Amino acid sequence: MTDTLPAHTTTRSDETWWRQASVYQIYPRSFADANGDGIGDLPGITERVLYLASLGIEAVWLSPFYPSALADGGYDVDDYRDVDPRLGTLDDFDAMVSALHAAGIRVIVDIVPNHTSDRHAWFRQALASPAGSPERDRYVFRDGTGEHGEQAPADWVSIFGGPAWTAVGDGQWYLHSFATEQPDLNWANREVRDDFLHTLRFWSDRGVDGFRIDVAHGLSKDLGDVLPTWAELSAMPKDGSHPLWDRDDVHEIYAEWRQVFDEYTPARTAVAEAWVAADRRARYASAEGLGQAFNFDLLEADFDAGAFRSIIEFNLGLAEQSGSSTTWVFSNHDVVRHATRYALPPRTGDEKQGGAWLLAGGSQDVLDQQLGLRRARAATMLELALPGSAYLYQGEELGLQEVGDIPDAERQDPAFFRNPGVDVGRDGCRVPLPWTRSGPSFGFGTGGAHLPQPAWFGDCSVEAEDTDPGSTLNLYRKALGLRGQLQSEEHLEWLETGRDDVLAFRRPNGWTSVTVFTDVPYDLPAGELLLASAPVADGALTGVGTVWLRA
Ligand code: NOJ
Repeated sequence: MTDTLPAHTTTRSDETWWRQASVYQIYPRSFADANGDGIGDLPGITERVLYLASLGIEAVWLSPFYPSALADGGYDVDDYRDVDPRLGTLDDFDAMVSALHAAGIRVIVDIVPNHTSDRHAWFRQALASPAGSPERDRYVFRDGTGEHGEQAPADWVSIFGGPAWTAVGDGQWYLHSFATEQPDLNWANREVRDDFLHTLRFWSDRGVDGFRIDVAHGLSKDLGDVLPTWAELSAMPKDGSHPLWDRDDVHEIYAEWRQVFDEYTPARTAVAEAWVAADRRARYASAEGLGQAFNFDLLEADFDAGAFRSIIEFNLGLAEQSGSSTTWVFSNHDVVRHATRYALPPRTGDEKQGGAWLLAGGSQDVLDQQLGLRRARAATMLELALPGSAYLYQGEELGLQEVGDIPDAERQDPAFFRNPGVDVGRDGCRVPLPWTRSGPSFGFGTGGAHLPQPAWFGDCSVEAEDTDPGSTLNLYRKALGLRGQLQSEEHLEWLETGRDDVLAFRRPNGWTSVTVFTDVPYDLPAGELLLASAPVADGALTGVGTVWLRA
């Protein structure tokens, strides 16, 4: 691996760096373990800064590293202004930020405002205080039904399955949209709002460049006096007036956050994780609000030229309307890795990609891994040629497949425990990264890995791919490096390809990207060949792949 910073590492200091950034998501507990306790940590990230710089990314986004009992992989936060002692200290955080900044890499951290953990000081205080107290008002408590409140206030189901209300023993119940250990906050409470402003300043003061906002569409709630049934709730339109999701008034919260972001130079950025109808996404991405929102449309689509084209056109149009830039994502810590999704037989309904495969045992044998990887490489190069920000997930640069067959006894995800037989959960994309071909936990750390790594991980390790010019790792490095040089104004022009299975577009500076979605060879247009994800022979792309040309 390189031991110096690559020439293309940039340090854009303008206010708009985020608009077309390549952002690499680190799931800290599974990235690199410096102290050998089996859990990745912040010093592990600091030790790998040269690796990150060798990728040519512009920013990292860190999933939560805060103190947590890990009831939901760290999205159950005990203290928003500290580091989990297993992951390091605040000094380690500062050292990591300095090292990343010195390498020209910006830092985005995850903020989890919809819920705290049940170990958070506020929740402990709420439990120790009576119904109607200010301590309980920071959360969403309701009286139970039945003679002594022994029945839930409503039959609501949590997103991870199972009931969304849990009793606290005195006739009251609290709402948790996710796991029992994740009580929802009451954002109508001024103290809650102020505390998060404090948290945003706390990390901004430590040099953080931006924030990823978890469940951004869930904060504002208006439950009313009489709770609807689950059936009624599910049938209500999500048009801004739903009691729980995507309420119009949630943007009042983000308008306050924007004022904090703008106290800094350059202004701190934010990206919303908001699972809302596409036409409501722009509100989260507005300049008066968070500024940018995740667009998961490509992630949810099959590998299909027509689907990709309409998604791209639609989202570029939306970005133009909102004044923001769009975002693209194929993989993250919540979904089956895209190299595996694309290796599966076509789905028959609109089930989650990979869901049925995981339930059936997640065997590698039923995957066409080679096809999945060729498609994933093509998709990523297409993504990196698009205007907007590209969010990449750790391990995808290695072409890593999902680990589908984790034994039940080793699973960690609450979605697995709360939904037996229905959801296997998300552990398979969170298995600690392989850094070396062999050795303890494939170089992740000396103390083993907190999720089991399969034997085939070594072949996809950084060591195995680092010096192989044809590896997926080196494809990412070249593509990201070129993207840094070729990036131009935020639009594209579609080119006529004469085929339904081929997409081609040109960026304003002559950078052309051609993607073939099938194994029918395609004669490439004239131009200097810059990079190809698949073999090119006699001027033709030989099958599934993406090629970049300069006209
Ligand atoms: C979205 C996060 O990406 C996911 O990992 C988490 O479980 C939920 N939000 C709840 O915080």
